[in-house]
Amino acid sequence: MEKSEIKKRIEALRLQIEDLRYRYHVLDDPRVTDDVYDSLTRELRELEEKNPEFHDPLSPTNRVAGKPLDKFLKVRHDVRMLSLNDVFSKDELEAWENRIKKVLSASPDAVEPVYFAEIKFDGLAVSLIYKKGVLVRGATRGDGFIGEDITQNLKTIKSIPLKLRGENPPEFLEVRGEAIMTKKVLEQLNRKQEKEGKQLFANTRNAAAGSLRQLDSALTAERSLDFFAYDIADNPNSLGLINNHSFNPTNTHSGLHENLRKFGFKTFPQYEMVAKDLKQAEELIRRVEKIRQSLPFGTDGVVVSVDQIALQKVLGVVGKAPRYMVAYKYPAEKATTIIKDIKVNVGRTGVLTPLAVFEPTLVAGSTISKATLHNMDQIERLDVRIGDTVVIQKAGDVIPEVVEVLPKMRSGKEKKFKMPKTCPVCGHLVEKREAGSKKSEVSVAYYCTNPKCPAKNRRFMQHFVSVLEIYEIGPKILDRFQEEGLISDAADIFALKKEDIQGLERFGEKSAENIITSINQHRQVSLPRFIYSLGILHVGEQTAEDLAAHFGSLEKLQAASLDEVNQIENIGPVVSRSVYEYFKDKENNRFIGNLFKNGVKVLKQAQKQAVGKLTGKTFVITGTLDTMSRDEAKSQIKRLGGKVTESVTKQTGYVVVGKEPGSKYEKAKKLGVNLLFEKDFKELINGQ
Ligand code: IVH
Repeated sequence: MEKSEIKKRIEALRLQIEDLRYRYHVLDDPRVTDDVYDSLTRELRELEEKNPEFHDPLSPTNRVAGKPLDKFLKVRHDVRMLSLNDVFSKDELEAWENRIKKVLSASPDAVEPVYFAEIKFDGLAVSLIYKKGVLVRGATRGDGFIGEDITQNLKTIKSIPLKLRGENPPEFLEVRGEAIMTKKVLEQLNRKQEKEGKQLFANTRNAAAGSLRQLDSALTAERSLDFFAYDIADNPNSLGLINNHSFNPTNTHSGLHENLRKFGFKTFPQYEMVAKDLKQAEELIRRVEKIRQSLPFGTDGVVVSVDQIALQKVLGVVGKAPRYMVAYKYPAEKATTIIKDIKVNVGRTGVLTPLAVFEPTLVAGSTISKATLHNMDQIERLDVRIGDTVVIQKAGDVIPEVVEVLPKMRSGKEKKFKMPKTCPVCGHLVEKREAGSKKSEVSVAYYCTNPKCPAKNRRFMQHFVSVLEIYEIGPKILDRFQEEGLISDAADIFALKKEDIQGLERFGEKSAENIITSINQHRQVSLPRFIYSLGILHVGEQTAEDLAAHFGSLEKLQAASLDEVNQIENIGPVVSRSVYEYFKDKENNRFIGNLFKNGVKVLKQAQKQAVGKLTGKTFVITGTLDTMSRDEAKSQIKRLGGKVTESVTKQTGYVVVGKEPGSKYEKAKKLGVNLLFEKDFKELINGQ
């Protein structure tokens, strides 16, 4: 990059970060997670370090974020609430150690440092002040000097002691820790928010922050927050930590943790340890990394500190962060990057999927250079353009996706993307069709119109063998068999013989045998698996199950009318048309015939209809129920042997009427069908 371009990028980053900081810390309206903020800040910090001529004292890298809002009383912290510097790798952690060792070596009576490593909770920093053992004030960090008094709200957190445990409490104690929300509580809360048409929280930290910011503490109480203590502030009012009579005498950070537990605070001893060297601290870092997804709450790293308080004093504070402590952060699950190009992939159903291509970028521990944009609707909704700076996200095993555009980062040279008019693989015309498997989610997608498009056939075969669990035949082997002319469609797989395969270069007798054994083991297929394996447009695993449950046999499904498919619960018009058209097509039926000819057998579907007091009765549900979701209501009806359908006819037994019922309610009244309001319905299903 040229200097003038670097300057522009630095300025854009500063504005962007400042904007995010303001939204996040002042307005409490987070549009991105910390990962994004961190990612942008890292880029800015690196650019500033390499180009010191663009230094600016007002840069977001030179400040502690957040002015307190005016909603709560402001309080001044006796001891500043600091932040932590982050490190993102073993090398950076070791560089930190080198820095502290250098400072310590200049101090004549400094001993060798020992470390303390502890899990880093992803919540909100809180200060709690106890006088004569009683909680008198709880506050947020704010800008580190001035926070907000949220005592009432903190008192609703059950893991915060209102009185310290033990005899002879200290006159004064300031505890620091993290208020958090568990993942489970967040899920429940978001379900409620959704039901009430309110905005969802992006993560447990934002939800915890939002909950503590409630002016009405009854609302905070509803959110079941939690609290982990991690430090005792060296508050001058405490008359010195080390000699305070009510402490177990300590001169270490680990000793403070002991004291916290003694006073009745929650800590997380399974994930904290004294480490004699960094290698041991790294063990904890790896241990937490392995299990952190399964922890009930969010954690974004491990805090490593020098354990000896005397050494902490020698090391002191630099800027806004202590030198004696760092946060080891796990790789971001979100990151920012610049889109170089948008390419198009052709799937097994012929659907064209746009893919963003960018320079290799580190997300959630892996380097990625492509992320899905899903479809044209998504591109338009996000307004993604080639050249845009975007947020990419990688969650666990899920394929990486573009989740947000940062329009403030635009230079004006970005280009809009258009779907190609012809298939990028075979050159046939591309057609726009309705898509979406649910009634409520009809959208538009683009398809290659060539039924024999090689991309489709190849992807279809991959799908087919994986649904039938013939794992010995991976995509590479499929390609090879096709190139060698052994197979031209998926039905041919079941006609393969050991001799065909072992004659091929690089395939021995053993591998040929394994492949044939695997094929033979998977000739018998359940009806839902078989339907799913066919790769019918819009038919996923669940729809295949629904079709199998309704028809009970392949013959009945093949013979079904469009109307009949349309009547099935959960199956909308777009899906039913696709199913109906699939089985009307001669080629498809020939393919199914060949599968049978080559020895595939579909197992009989056991009819699993429950028998109960609602057997023989059909129900239709309309409107929103207060005390249960629609799915819950459906499964209750099914449990008692009843059936749930979508449309009201004279044959309908009951219409369950919730809040704001639709036209089904009117129709039921007109036809004189029995109406059940929520209370009646609950009596019916709960009664004997
Ligand atoms: S020690 C000097 N220990 O992380 C301030 N902080 O990124 C650090 N945090 O503001 C105090 N878990 O809110 C410490 N075990 C832990 C922590 C922890 C989470 C938070 C704290 C701090 C932020 C810095």
